[in-house]
Amino acid sequence: METTTPPQKKIIFSAIQPSGTITLGNYLGALKNWTQLQEEYRCIFALADLHTITVRQEPAVFRRNTLEAYALLLACGVDPQKSPFFIQSQVHTHAELAWILNCYTQFGELSRMTQFKDKSLKHADNINVGLFAYPSLMAADILLYQADLVPVGADQKQHLELARDIAARFNGIYSPTFTIPDPYIPKDGARIMSLQDPTKKMSKSDENPNAWVALLDKPDDIVRKFKRAVTDSEGGVRYAEGKDGVNNLIGIYSCVTGKSCAEIEKEFDGKGYGDFKAAVAEAVTDHLRPIQEEYARLIQDKAYLEQCYTAAAQTALSLSQRTLSKVMKKIGFLPPAKP
Ligand code: TRP
Repeated sequence: METTTPPQKKIIFSAIQPSGTITLGNYLGALKNWTQLQEEYRCIFALADLHTITVRQEPAVFRRNTLEAYALLLACGVDPQKSPFFIQSQVHTHAELAWILNCYTQFGELSRMTQFKDKSLKHADNINVGLFAYPSLMAADILLYQADLVPVGADQKQHLELARDIAARFNGIYSPTFTIPDPYIPKDGARIMSLQDPTKKMSKSDENPNAWVALLDKPDDIVRKFKRAVTDSEGGVRYAEGKDGVNNLIGIYSCVTGKSCAEIEKEFDGKGYGDFKAAVAEAVTDHLRPIQEEYARLIQDKAYLEQCYTAAAQTALSLSQRTLSKVMKKIGFLPPAKP
C-alpha cells in the first residue's frame, strides 16, 4: 500500500524584543497572529534579547523584562508544545552566525537602514556598532532555522530584505546553504494606531501614556484610555477616509470581537462615540482578562518558565547548529575541536 507522507509544513520564524511593556498594538499587530500560525506552520519563536542591548539596559530591569515577556507571550497563547519559544542569548549559534554574516554584509547596506538612521538620532550618545550591525544578527536569527516565512511589520521589512540579500549572496559565493525567506503578510493584518494621534503607530515610547494600552493594564485604565481616544467631530461610527481615530477603534473592536466592519457599523448605527468607546473598552478588557489571569499564574511559576525556555533552547540549538556547521565548513574553517 502506498503511504502518503504529509507535506512538510513551512517554517516560520519570528522574534520580539523583551524591552519592557508589550502593548495592545504589539499583540493585535503581531502576537495574536503568532498563536494562530502555530497550527498551519512549523513555528519557531524567540525573545530577541541580544538585540535589546543595542540600547543600554539596567541589568535588574532587563532580567525582569525578559522573564515577564516570556511569561506574557505564553499567556497570549504561544504553545511551547507546538513551537519552540526560546531566549536568543541562550542559543550561542545566533551570535556566532551574526559575526560570520557581518563579513558578508556591506557597510553601505547597513548605512542605508532607516531604523539605524532613526535610532542614531534618538540615541545620539550611544551609536554603537551593535546598533549598526543589528540587521545581520536578525538575518542570522532567520537563516539559522531555514525559515520560509517571516511575519514582519513595515518597520522590519527593510531588514528582511537585507536578510534575503545576504542569504542569496552567501548561496552564490558557495552553494545553496540558506533558504531565502519571504515576508509573511497576515490575512487580517492589524496596524493599531495611537489613541491620541491615530496617524502614528501605537508605541509604548509615546510620551503620552494615554496613547497606548498595555496588555497588562488594569480595566479602569483601559476604560479611561479609550474614553479619551481622539475621534472626530462628525460623530458617526463608520469606517471612512479621514476618520483615522474611529477607523482605529473599529479595527481594534473588530480584532477582539471577530466582528466585521459592516457588523460594527450596524451595531452602532445611531449611537454616539461615547457608547462606542465604552463598548470597545469593554471588549478589549474581556479579551485581555484571560491573558492577564494566565500571566499572573505563570509569572509565579518560575520553575515552569525555566523548564520551557530550557527545552526550547536545546531544540533551537540542535536545529541551528546544523546550519552553522554547514556554513563554517563551506567557508573553510577547520572542523570543530574535539572535546
Ligand atoms: N528586530 C525585531 C524587532 O525589533 C525583532 C527580531 C529579531 C526579529 N530577530 C528577528 C523579527 C527575526 C523577525 C525575525 O521587532
